[in-house]
Amino acid sequence: MKAVQVTGYGDVDQLKVIEKDIPEPKEHEVLIKVKACSINNTEIWMREGAYGTGSKSGWRPEGVGFPRTPGSDITGIVVKAGQSVDKSMLDKDVVLFPFTSSGEEGLEHISEDMSFIGSEYDGGYAEYVVWPADLCFDMPLSDYIESAVFSVSGLTAWHMVEQIQVQPGETVMVTGANGGVGSLNVQIATKVFGAKVIAIVGDLDLENKLKELGATHVLSYKSDHLAEDILEVNGGPIDSVLDVVGDALFSTALHVLKKGGKYCISGSAGG
Ligand SMILES: NC(=O)c1ccc[n+]([C@@H]2O[C@H](COP(=O)([O-])OP(=O)(O)OC[C@H]3O[C@@H](n4cnc5c(N)ncnc54)[C@H](OP(=O)(O)O)[C@@H]3O)[C@@H](O)[C@H]2O)c1
Repeated sequence: MKAVQVTGYGDVDQLKVIEKDIPEPKEHEVLIKVKACSINNTEIWMREGAYGTGSKSGWRPEGVGFPRTPGSDITGIVVKAGQSVDKSMLDKDVVLFPFTSSGEEGLEHISEDMSFIGSEYDGGYAEYVVWPADLCFDMPLSDYIESAVFSVSGLTAWHMVEQIQVQPGETVMVTGANGGVGSLNVQIATKVFGAKVIAIVGDLDLENKLKELGATHVLSYKSDHLAEDILEVNGGPIDSVLDVVGDALFSTALHVLKKGGKYCISGSAGG
């Protein structure tokens, strides 16, 4: 099969297209023919060694074992099942939950042995991938490409919106609103929970697109008076913040947040 491998920490010249054997599913695994794999920020940070602090690191402190096939947001068809896997899995369209962990329910993501597909395991920038059968779920939509944003960026956004316990009609500031997580934060906060969203982007040409996703107002972080802009369109302080940008917008977000408001952060695209 064809696959992309990252051969070491560095720039895009570390990505190589190679030929390799199709992997064999182990006892509790399935082999999936990859139909779509979205390009997620995590693949870039994995290659750059940008996780962790101090030294280069992957999702785990010991770093990535290269060569590694990246890709974590994957959909595909199950084409082979390991010995102990129910054969009814065959031919299923699936979306892959992205990590393994021995952590107890609800704490899996902070377990010491949490290991991520595309970082600790070979991922979806390939024609085939193997993965535990019990971490393969029915595809949420009929479209492979649209479904391929659900597991990593989608679940991150879902979890973020849940954390702020948003109520219908409340105003939420969403940073990085045109990005992988932010665009899903806009959709989930508005269309599922009925919030009003002030979407923050760099380029205001995206205004119509963000409004289609559900945003009530779209403002640019390039404004010299972003805090005033937010307070003006909302008619006062906002109820909560969903932030993936970090340092670049942190003081602005705190400034416009009401007393007792909620602030959920899950990234640092801006430092
Ligand atoms: N993707 C995931 O599944 C996932 C999961 C958990 C955590 N995260 C974390 O969330 C963060 C964003 O990830 P992503 O996948 O959404 O990235 P992305 O698709 O690359 O989007 C990054 C966003 O950040 C904005 N941004 C970058 N620098 C900025 C600055 N200086 N000031 C204001 N906005 C700035 C960009 O706005 P412009 O394009 O307008 O410049 C863009 O909207 C990362 O730190 C990532 O590690 C991501």
